[in-house]
Amino acid sequence: MTSHNASFLADFASMSSNGATAGGGVDRQAATVADGQNRNWFRGLVEGHGFTVRYDRVGNQYSMLELSPGAPWIAVGSHLDSQPLGGRFDGAYGVLAGAHAAKRVQEMLAAAGSESSAKFNIVVINWFNEEGCRFKPSMMGSSVYTGKLSAAQVLETTDPDGVSVREALESIGTIGDFELPVSAYVEIHIEQGRSLEDRGLTIGLVESTWGANKYEFVVHGDQAHTGATVIADRQDALLGASALVVAAREIALEHSTEEHMVITSCGEFNVFPNSPVVVASRVNLLVDVRSTDPDVLAAADADLHARVAKIEKMANVRIERGAEHIWGAKAYDQAGLKLAAESAESLGLSHGVVRTLAGHDSTNMKDLVPTIMLFVPSVEGISHNERELTSDDDMVAGVDLLSEVLLRVVRGEFISEVEGFASLDLDATVSR
Ligand code: GLV
Ligand code: MN
Ligand code: MN
Repeated sequence: MTSHNASFLADFASMSSNGATAGGGVDRQAATVADGQNRNWFRGLVEGHGFTVRYDRVGNQYSMLELSPGAPWIAVGSHLDSQPLGGRFDGAYGVLAGAHAAKRVQEMLAAAGSESSAKFNIVVINWFNEEGCRFKPSMMGSSVYTGKLSAAQVLETTDPDGVSVREALESIGTIGDFELPVSAYVEIHIEQGRSLEDRGLTIGLVESTWGANKYEFVVHGDQAHTGATVIADRQDALLGASALVVAAREIALEHSTEEHMVITSCGEFNVFPNSPVVVASRVNLLVDVRSTDPDVLAAADADLHARVAKIEKMANVRIERGAEHIWGAKAYDQAGLKLAAESAESLGLSHGVVRTLAGHDSTNMKDLVPTIMLFVPSVEGISHNERELTSDDDMVAGVDLLSEVLLRVVRGEFISEVEGFASLDLDATVSR
């Protein structure tokens, strides 16, 4: 094992002790004490290696490594926040890998005596609240950066206890007014699925995203006595919400085709007042519909809304559709895919093309600037779970690849330094 690899694994182990859970995972939901502790730990780490750290108005953390003073910036990043009882690797692996790879690029340029060939500087971005569990929607920091959400709206967004993003970020001291345009973006992440493992591959080159439509629904009923209220008189919000959960699964089964799968879920479900002898007055739930194909997704989505109307009648409830978070099935930069494939070849790493089912900050960034997205395998595809695992060998192979990709990007092999911002394509929309 090289000293580079040993130092990456040692840093990864240290980072994983921040917000560690008894089950071997982490709980570092956005802007909690544990997230703040980890952000500060990361700041200390990179400052010790010559990076300068700043925060923007929604808490995105920028760690800058200047290679060529005055040159434009390229970004590498992911997120340090986690799900409740989440895994150690989701997001955090990519941020730490970005910092190590940036440092290695600096060393490689120095060793080759070619510091002057750097056409870009590197910023490692830890995007605020990618997970979207404490504050909805997900991919919040990168949504503001790419103009899909306004900072004002985000800062006022509250968690279930009524704490706003602004208050939470201020309480952990990771908010500022820094701004930095970047010319390209690179992200590495664990796959969170099993396709690489099934194919025996070390690296996934992500060619496109799946489309996703997420809806917050509120099912309104009327609070009543579970014994004394006859069935005919009930407006049972829990019955309506449960029917919606079942409908979502049926839609996945009925709309999936050989070529294009449909995946649906209800990940959040809150019953009011949630008391043993009370018919529920209200349920808040979130339904998520995804597919690789826009037409298949549109048909599944239309079916969901048609079923909502039927469920309202069946359960004698009113179903309100609240905020939505939608992104399209869309390709990553083709030249980036080629550059990443050539980089993997040059290192002798097995690789294959994959699509991403999960959303990532690169889902947003690819609509703003040329973007490269890389995956390393997840053991058994387990994710959003304390048992999430990526082997040490795969982690360090990913850092090797990321370093090679970044070196090529910094040398101007992906985009030239005169290509600035691409125009913003608001294909994905977020509304609240
Ligand atoms: C990420 O936000 C996801 O929903 O996949
Ligand atoms: Mn993630
Ligand atoms: Mn996640």
